[in-house]
Parts: sequence; C-alpha cells; structure tokens
Amino acid sequence: MYQPANNRYEQMEYKRCGNSGVMLPRVALGLWQNFGTVNPIDNQREIIRKAFDLGITHFDLANNYGPEPGSAERNFGQILEMDFKGYRDEMLISTKAGYTMWQGPYGDWGSRKYLISSLDQSLKRMNLDYVDIFYHHRPDPNTPLEETCEALSHLVRQGKALYVGLSNYRPEEAKKAIDILKENKTPCLIHQPRYNMFDRWVEDGLLDLLEEEGVGSICFSPLAQGVLSDKYIAGIPQDSRAVKNYFLKETDITDEKRKKVIGLNEIAKERGQTLAQMALTWVLRNDRVTTVLIGASRPSQIEDNVAIVNQPKLSKEELDKIEKILSDK
Ligand SMILES: NC(=O)c1ccc[n+]([C@@H]2O[C@H](COP(=O)([O-])OP(=O)(O)OC[C@H]3O[C@@H](n4cnc5c(N)ncnc54)[C@H](OP(=O)(O)O)[C@@H]3O)[C@@H](O)[C@H]2O)c1
Repeated sequence: MYQPANNRYEQMEYKRCGNSGVMLPRVALGLWQNFGTVNPIDNQREIIRKAFDLGITHFDLANNYGPEPGSAERNFGQILEMDFKGYRDEMLISTKAGYTMWQGPYGDWGSRKYLISSLDQSLKRMNLDYVDIFYHHRPDPNTPLEETCEALSHLVRQGKALYVGLSNYRPEEAKKAIDILKENKTPCLIHQPRYNMFDRWVEDGLLDLLEEEGVGSICFSPLAQGVLSDKYIAGIPQDSRAVKNYFLKETDITDEKRKKVIGLNEIAKERGQTLAQMALTWVLRNDRVTTVLIGASRPSQIEDNVAIVNQPKLSKEELDKIEKILSDK
C-alpha cells in the first residue's frame, strides 16, 4: 500500500499562479507521452508516486493523450483509485480539449458541443467529479471566440472545472479570450505555451500580456522533448522518445542542434547541473513563468528535474554564455 512521503512539501517550491489564489509547484508533470495503453502501468504508477513524493501536486492531461486517445486519462484514473484515494484535495488536475478526439464534426476544435461533451467524457475516464483546470487546447479559427469561452465559463459554473485555461493562443487571440472570460466572471487562470531554449516565441509579447492581465503561465516541453538533455549527444538511445515516438524524429536532432547541446552541456557541467536541470532553470529564470511542465519516461528523471528547486539561479555571465551558444549559426 503506497504511503506518500511525509516530507513531500519540503521538497518543492510553490508559486502563485498569476493573480489567483492558486499556488503551483515550480515543476509540474504532464502525461502526454508514456502514459498510454502501450506503456506499462507499473512504470506509470512509479512515476506518479515519485512525483507526488517530491511535492509535485499538479498533473496535466488532455482528452487525446495516449495512445490511444483517452487512455492516459483512463490510466491516470486507475492510478488515482489504486494509490491516491484520500489525496484528491492535494492535487491539481487539468485536462483539455481542442484537438481531434472522435470522428465526425463534433469531435475537434472549439464548439460548445465539442467542449462540453469532451469534458464529460474526460471526467468519466478519470472517474472524477471535477477537474481543477479545463483548457481550450488550441485556438479555433472558425468558431466564434465568444462561443468557445462561454462553453468554458459554463463548465466552471456547473462545477465540472474550477478554473479555465488557454493553450497555444497567440497574444492577440489570448487577449480577446482573456477579456471575454473576465466579462463572464470566470477569469482565465493560466496559459500553457511551449517554451524552451530552442523555441522562444512567448518572449515576443505573450509573457508581457500575461503579466499585465495577471494570468499565470505553465510552459510545456521545457526540455524540447528531451533534446535539451545529454541523452542525444553520443547518438540516439533505443529507449528514447526520438525512437519510440513520432512527435520527435531522429531527423529533428540536427548537427546544428547537437552542437549547441554539447556547448550547453559544458556550461551545465561547470555549474554542477545536468543539462536537463539547466534547461529547466533557464525557463524559470523568467519570473513571469509560473511553472515548467515536464514529461518523464522514468522516476529518476523526476528526481533529476525536481532537484532544480534547490539549485542556484543562472548568473548574468552564464546567461550571456548560453545566449551566445543559442544564437551561434
Ligand atoms: N498544450 C499543448 O499543446 C502541449 C503540447 C505538448 C506537451 N504538453 C504538455 O507538456 C508536458 C511535457 O511535454 P514534454 O513531454 O514534451 O516535455 P519535456 O520535459 O520537454 O520532455 C520530456 C522528455 O524528456 C526526457 N527527459 C525528461 N527529464 C529528463 C532528464 N532529467 N534527463 C534526460 N531526459 C529527460 C524524457 O524523454 P525520454 O522519453 O526519451 O526518456 C521525457 O519523456 C506534456 O506531458 C503535456 O502535459 C502540452
């Protein structure tokens, strides 16, 4: 019988999410990869237990995580039932809808029809009464933003979600949605964009907007799916995402990227960090980032990543060295 570590809240730092009442762990865990039907449930269970033992209270899902779509939510529901009965109120659980989930015209994008039925399905799969955050997963160019936002607000009023989030919205569309949600009296809690050393679009207006609006930010793929670690320096390990999964291909790890990774790894070593740790520390250097949203294929990666909470911040000299490597052609 699993007993969570008594000292779990001493292992983690928590930060207020925008202007809300919610505190988020600086490192949160996402179940996009490694939690589907194809992945052994025992390993999934070990990862979630390790995360919770180290103070990770926030778990991020989406309707389509798997494969097959829906299976990550089902597996997570099973793990909650097996190991976390009695701990629901210590957890912040999110899910999303916005990408293709089922066949036909109602299983994708941002209509009221899709969002409301999708959250009902997610709650059944996870065996939950409510999720803490329900996100619109990506903007829908063809549905009026008012309809999408009203569907999110409706779910909050119904008590099926406590807060609303937006993901992958560019600054202009995010501003419009944030305004509508404010008018609806269900303010946007959080935005979930991709942000890492290789993908910095959020620096071009989004983080400014979120700060102005008092909305938190949780940055996904902070390790560029593992490329910002030392694992691909000497080759492509057979058990890595680049081999196992089509979202990251071997061809994505170009010579140019590997060269940068090697340079970054040297700086990390000088700091006494792994490159993965330094890449996370780098994302969190920006005070407007509430949380990094990591993935993991094994419990040891959670240990490695959570250790950043007690590691030194990056100095100006180190940041300059990193900047130089990133901008070198
Ligand atoms: N909103 C969206 O559109 C969206 C899109 C993508 C992701 N997300 C969310 O963000 C979460 C994280 O995304 P991600 O999995 O791409 O994040 P990531 O943290 O950039 O990549 C995770 C992968 O990096 C490797 N890794 C992790 N820690 C490591 C360490 N300490 N040392 C070496 N390698 C390490 C593992 O790869 P191996 O498997 O190779 O071991 C792991 O599976 C997702 O689960 C999901 O919740 C959201």
